Amino acid sequence: MTLTRNDFPEGFLFGAATAAYQVEGHGFGGAGPTHWDTFAATPGNVVRSEDGSRACDQYHRYGEDFDLLMEGNFDAYRFSTSWARVLPEGRGQVNEAGLDYYDRLTDALLERGLKPCQTLYHWEMPAALADLGGWTHPDVHNWFGDYVEVIDGRIGDRMESIATINEPWCVAFLSHFYGAHAPGMRDIRATARAMHHVLKAHGEAMNRLRAKGRDNLGIVLNFDYCEAATEDPKDQKAAATADAIFNRWFIEAITKGTYPSEAMEGFEAHMPKGWQADMKSHINQPLDWLGVNYYTRHIHAHDPAATAWPPNRDVPGHRATTQMGWEVYPEGLHHFITRMSDKYVGDLPIYVTENGMAWEDHILNGAVNDPERCDFIKSHLAAMKKSIDDGANLKGFFYWSLLDNYEWAEGYEKRFGIVHVDFDTLKRTPKASYHMLKEFLSRD
Ligand code: NOJ
Repeated sequence: MTLTRNDFPEGFLFGAATAAYQVEGHGFGGAGPTHWDTFAATPGNVVRSEDGSRACDQYHRYGEDFDLLMEGNFDAYRFSTSWARVLPEGRGQVNEAGLDYYDRLTDALLERGLKPCQTLYHWEMPAALADLGGWTHPDVHNWFGDYVEVIDGRIGDRMESIATINEPWCVAFLSHFYGAHAPGMRDIRATARAMHHVLKAHGEAMNRLRAKGRDNLGIVLNFDYCEAATEDPKDQKAAATADAIFNRWFIEAITKGTYPSEAMEGFEAHMPKGWQADMKSHINQPLDWLGVNYYTRHIHAHDPAATAWPPNRDVPGHRATTQMGWEVYPEGLHHFITRMSDKYVGDLPIYVTENGMAWEDHILNGAVNDPERCDFIKSHLAAMKKSIDDGANLKGFFYWSLLDNYEWAEGYEKRFGIVHVDFDTLKRTPKASYHMLKEFLSRD
């Protein structure tokens, strides 16, 4: 690896990321069911109907996992706290064992000199609230705000940073329009509501945490490079619509208080009553930092056969793909970091809160050789460095993920970790990419 930590500014944070439902073992410690448990129990939704009940068993093995982070010379750990672990019914009765767990986890990080970076919602909607309508319900922001106060009351004083919501596009669009994630709806009216309510919940959490004097608050948005298949205006329009829904909806609401017209074309008739007022009271308010998750690009074309909005279809690209079938396209990471900085957030600190790749990794003679992932990481670190050289205030990078884990609808098959997990024995084996990053991060 030619780049080293020293090629990045002093204080640049290097970490690895996970999320509660994907690693903890949701069946342990009195957590209530989430909509992922019910989604996974519905035939056809998840590969082999796998769920997160055991996952990587981080609930019992966090010490070992944090030793790996510390020994790998990382500075920080991005994790999420599960709403249903804290409040098994989503509201009301608190699960003290859940709060104790996050307390222990926080201290275990700090004892090892690792900075705890919390995400308040990484898709762990309590099933009891999902049954009431979840993200489509007009009170969801208040339910979320109440949970935020409970968890913040226990660990908020020790967090390095707090993110409100992880990837609102997935929370709202992937889950309510495509039905690919829990709760598995395919309904534009539900989607429009979720697209707005998730931002209102973000704002509610910001309001409540600000009132308590918390700082270093942000949100984690995911971005997908949307390219038009040809110069044809219809293909250009297809790409612009996808870009508006994916890459502009959330950031423009937060920084400008508006939604892009290309997306409103489909959603306007279905927006919840009074949505405009929520911009001022909740959504359009300053962040302390912006989280950028980036994985790939998609090429969009007009679909003449489409009978529904948006009339788009995907066209395959020509780059190498990962185990997810996603093209490797590091230029897109540079694009989004500089686009966010130039068009929306200026000098506000930006963190790459997720970037990584899945590969079919195997253990051979006790080791995992993953040259594809090593190359992926190098090319994306180079894209980050170029963004800094081009003037972006990029402050850190979290690799997704520390561990192979529960990849949602893909179950346990897709391995994103720099640490291999044997899902029979739960044994952790650091991969070659872990060792590469360890050397890259070494201060010697
Ligand atoms: C984004 C999500 O935040 C994370 O939960 C997921 O596992 C990765 N992308 C990889 O798909």
